[in-house]
Amino acid sequence: MIKPRLWITRRLSDATLKRASRDYDVVINHDDLPGTADQLVAASADFDAIIPCHSENFSAEVVAQFSDRLKIVANHSVGIDHCNLPALKERGIVVTNTPDVLSDATAELAMLLMLGAARNAVAGDRTVRTGAWDSWSPAFMVGKQVTGARLGIIGMGRVGRAFATKARGFDMEIHYYNRSELPADQAKGAVYHDSVESLLRAADFLSLHCPATPETTNMMNAERFALLPAGAVMVNTSRGALVDEAALLGALAKGQISAAGLDCFQTEPGGNPAFAVHDTIFMLPHIGSATRKTRDAMGFRALDNLDAFFSNHTPRDQL
Ligand code: DGY
Repeated sequence: MIKPRLWITRRLSDATLKRASRDYDVVINHDDLPGTADQLVAASADFDAIIPCHSENFSAEVVAQFSDRLKIVANHSVGIDHCNLPALKERGIVVTNTPDVLSDATAELAMLLMLGAARNAVAGDRTVRTGAWDSWSPAFMVGKQVTGARLGIIGMGRVGRAFATKARGFDMEIHYYNRSELPADQAKGAVYHDSVESLLRAADFLSLHCPATPETTNMMNAERFALLPAGAVMVNTSRGALVDEAALLGALAKGQISAAGLDCFQTEPGGNPAFAVHDTIFMLPHIGSATRKTRDAMGFRALDNLDAFFSNHTPRDQL
């Protein structure tokens, strides 16, 4: 049987590439650079399937130039804001993603960011690392206590719930906003707010866990930062598009927030150079799902979706 031709746009885990090479006629981008628009268009004529990451942009303009050969885009990501779904659907191209398997890894990173932002990780690390640590006093690097504080979660999907589970280990009081209230077995005692505004007023710590859509773009704007209790800490492991970065700097300057932990930015790669002077912004380079276990699981989930498609079944994660 002729194997379907598959393009893998980035360097995925070894186990993923091994399995893909066994089951598909695969071309791997060993250079590991993001696929350009021209490469995507060319690939649509040469391949039946693509496994891309969030680094490849399937805009309407790009998709309009696709040949008819490409049948499926099996994303190696849960986020699909880099895919114009209506445009892909119109071309009859199936799109899948990789939910579930990265929830714990991302929630772990949100915890790291929350604790690091609350407890001066940036300044503390630099002080020791540079040899500048020459004194100690009870007033030195005093942070904000997480234990027992109120945690507001926007978006109580899989990652939001995984983060809530971890935060319960810190005895945090969980509050959440979601499009709909969760059933009791999923809410596990978390307090539901029917508006973002109501949630923000109760959030000593705030963590964002919703996708980037036209509705959520810049959802954390100046008006909303102003609703947080003074000195709140904000964490974002979802997408940079959710936060108006100028408003974040304004909120920091006014003390509306005391710190932020960010794994994603409006501009990626690169981030926001204006954040660099602020020790109270603890930053990581979009590595929420970057554990070995999760990378294997994401790759295998993308391949499971491809396998289903090419054996004439509906892929589990078809969007
Ligand atoms: C995701 O899966 O959406 C992560 O952000 C990595 O791409």
